[in-house]
Amino acid sequence: MTTVIVVGAQWGDEGKGKIIDFLASRASMVVRCQGGSNAGHTVVWQGNTYKLHLVPSGILYKDAVNVIANGVVVDIPCLLQELGLLEEQGVSVASLRLSLRAHMILPYHYSMDELQEQIKGVNKIGTTKRGIGPAYADKASRCGIRVADLFDWPYFEEKLRFNMREKNHLLRSYGQEELAVEPVLEEYRHLRERIRPFVAETATLINAAVESGQKVLFEGAQGALLDIDHGTYPYVTSSQPVAGGVCTGAGVGPTKIGKVVGIAKAYTTRVGDGPFPTELFDEQGERIRQAGMEFGTTTGRPRRCGWFDVPAARYSAMVNGMTDLVVTKLDIFDGFEEIKICTAYEYEGRLLHDFPADLRVLQQCRPVYETMAGWSGSVGQCRAYEELPLPARAYLERLEQLAATPVAMVAVGSERQQTIIRREIF
Ligand code: GDP
Ligand code: IMO
Ligand code: MG
Repeated sequence: MTTVIVVGAQWGDEGKGKIIDFLASRASMVVRCQGGSNAGHTVVWQGNTYKLHLVPSGILYKDAVNVIANGVVVDIPCLLQELGLLEEQGVSVASLRLSLRAHMILPYHYSMDELQEQIKGVNKIGTTKRGIGPAYADKASRCGIRVADLFDWPYFEEKLRFNMREKNHLLRSYGQEELAVEPVLEEYRHLRERIRPFVAETATLINAAVESGQKVLFEGAQGALLDIDHGTYPYVTSSQPVAGGVCTGAGVGPTKIGKVVGIAKAYTTRVGDGPFPTELFDEQGERIRQAGMEFGTTTGRPRRCGWFDVPAARYSAMVNGMTDLVVTKLDIFDGFEEIKICTAYEYEGRLLHDFPADLRVLQQCRPVYETMAGWSGSVGQCRAYEELPLPARAYLERLEQLAATPVAMVAVGSERQQTIIRREIF
């Protein structure tokens, strides 16, 4: 089958953008299915860096159609700004298609995100404050506003006025500043004309491409451990980053899916709050953060860093039905004398091999480590698996054995060509 889902196997920022960009040279279509501008996917090509939030990471290929499907929550001003920046960088954005069924993030979703985090205080999620949770909440409450609604102006206006009355009531009750409706109406009256050329019934487009045997890549955002069902709830995002989310988020049936490729860093990072059993608070953690430049693509926040977590990776492989694993950022371990892998957790004197559902248990889990030898040279110039130093290969082979998923590709740098194929994905 010629469809491949690429998902984050950890807590996001695994290098999905880089891998999608690499694989997209062989694809006819790249589809974003969930999340919104909370995502920050980085593509580096010929020394230029492209930071993508809503635009799919296949945009550098002018022959690939890039689709923002129904499951994404779309911040239209943010999307247009991103398109403008890409054009300034000489990238054609004509291939973009935006689902008429996608829900929009509106200014009040930002206010609600901010307010909800404030109210939670020390229990805050540490969201990206891009209005993601409130937009998905409105979608589930059936008061969301979709892209299609922009093209039925009286309907849009009525819904917007109704929603803003409600949100302003809430803002007022918490002593916050209210939002004025008229400027929002005015802004969106203009925005809808700028967005009109891109809108489409994307499920129809995607299914037609699949039916005609074209290669279609589904680009996950966030990661399995941030999934609203399978992640470390409530410290999660509000969508379904796992592979299953692609079916609802793009409108393709499960029978149409070929492979599921999970992207994992050679270590683990997390931004925002929530449990993270292998987090390092010492100089090793700082060394990873500095070497890996682990600062958020969307918010600039320092990412929390730790060793590779096998119970989490195995769980992620299971809930995604992962067929292949891609390990990124192997180069960050250049010069490390030793590298640790968390093979299990210790909880109340017992060994746990599975990733626990209960957050209180997870918070008290202590990682059990296995130590592997590091390597002295640099892997950044390696282009074939056999060129990697033996300890690096031993590390990757131990990861695939423990995670019970074959390593199909390895990334050894941020540039497109710093990628090693071990077994073809498509
Ligand atoms: P995404 O959200 O999963 O697309 O990942 P991000 O773009 O947020 O974060 C990954 C960061 O690591 C980006 O700055 C990438 O350019 C960079 N990156 C990806 N793969 C590699 C790699 O193998 N080595 C190095 N050094 N950097 C990488
Ligand atoms: P990409 O696609 C890493 C995290 C936030 C926070 C939680 C909820 O670049 O991998 P939200 O704004 O979604 O309500 O925040 O999820 N988060 C991410 N962490 N990478 C991302 O995206 C993320 N998107 C959201 O930091 O902990
Ligand atoms: Mg990111």
